[in-house]
Amino acid sequence: MIPSITKCKRVLLIVCLFLFPLTSVVLAQENDDEYAALVESGKKVYEVRCLLCHGSKGDGNGPVGIIRRAERNGRVLEIVPRDLTMAVFRFRTTPTGCLADDQDILNIINNGVPRSFMPAHEKIPIQEREAVKEYIKTFSYRWEEEDPCEPIAVVKPEWVGSSKSVDKGKIIFKEMKCGECHGYEGKGDGPKSNDLKDDWGKQILPFNFSTGDLKRGSTPENVYITFTSGLDGTGMPSYEDSLNEEDRWHLVSFTLKLMGKLDKK
Ligand code: HEC
Ligand code: HEC
Repeated sequence: MIPSITKCKRVLLIVCLFLFPLTSVVLAQENDDEYAALVESGKKVYEVRCLLCHGSKGDGNGPVGIIRRAERNGRVLEIVPRDLTMAVFRFRTTPTGCLADDQDILNIINNGVPRSFMPAHEKIPIQEREAVKEYIKTFSYRWEEEDPCEPIAVVKPEWVGSSKSVDKGKIIFKEMKCGECHGYEGKGDGPKSNDLKDDWGKQILPFNFSTGDLKRGSTPENVYITFTSGLDGTGMPSYEDSLNEEDRWHLVSFTLKLMGKLDKK
């Protein structure tokens, strides 16, 4: 009796060992097919909602071309759709040099980019947003070779916005020479502000804090992420290594003040 059970078990084991790789191959194939279908449906969403600006190859050369030409103090600024083929993202929560993570891309799709005329798409079904997120990854080889890094941790201390913290932030803003680009009063008119070019060779203007809203969104956490992660592709560096966490939060306090966000409280 006993030996026959053992034998039976052994046969079962062998059958299982043989079947396991087979089922995982079948499952992997099913996953691949599902992913391919998702990307295909993302292409359709892209063609309806994004191609006009970002172009059929994702290189930013859509039929719209230059979205707006603005003139400020004799400087002409052209706002153009982003070239997605380099997969260089400004509004990430990941450290400088890294790919954006899935949530970052969804946030961009949801909220659009204020001041740049990229529309928000939060009202379209989530499946469509997920699909188009995957589709835009087909524009750059980086997505095949790299994984996004871990997002930067953001824990806001209670004292952010206090007048003491604003005063400290003011000193740091000066010491870190933010004013060379952003202007000493934060009005976007620093001595370097006329000569800045982005990674695509286009003129770019530093943010004028007195005009209000950030492209990324203006919560204290977003401001913190902006100079911690840096705005890749714009020349605005990451201060993750050069400023400690506390000093970065003092800088948040000061820049919120420059944006008039503290007076309203
Ligand atoms: C009206 C034109 C327009 C449309 C439509 C549009 N975009 Fe954009 N998009 C822009 C512009 C302009 C920028 C550059 C914003 C900036 O950096 O100031 C941009 C930037 C981006 C970025 C880069 C953001 C970053 O962090 O660097 C992504 C990703 C993106 N768009 C995806 C999409 C997707 C996906 C769609 C369709 C669902 C879409 N866009 C539709 C104009 C558009
Ligand atoms: C080399 C020039 C340069 C320096 C130095 C610099 N920035 Fe910037 N910064 C830029 C540019 C250019 C932009 C605009 C990017 C855009 O519009 O997409 C920007 C944008 C920003 C924004 C707005 C981001 C958004 O979502 O719209 C904030 C906040 C900011 N910078 C804070 C700072 C602070 C604080 C410092 C100093 C610690 C600093 N920057 C140093 C060039 C610079």
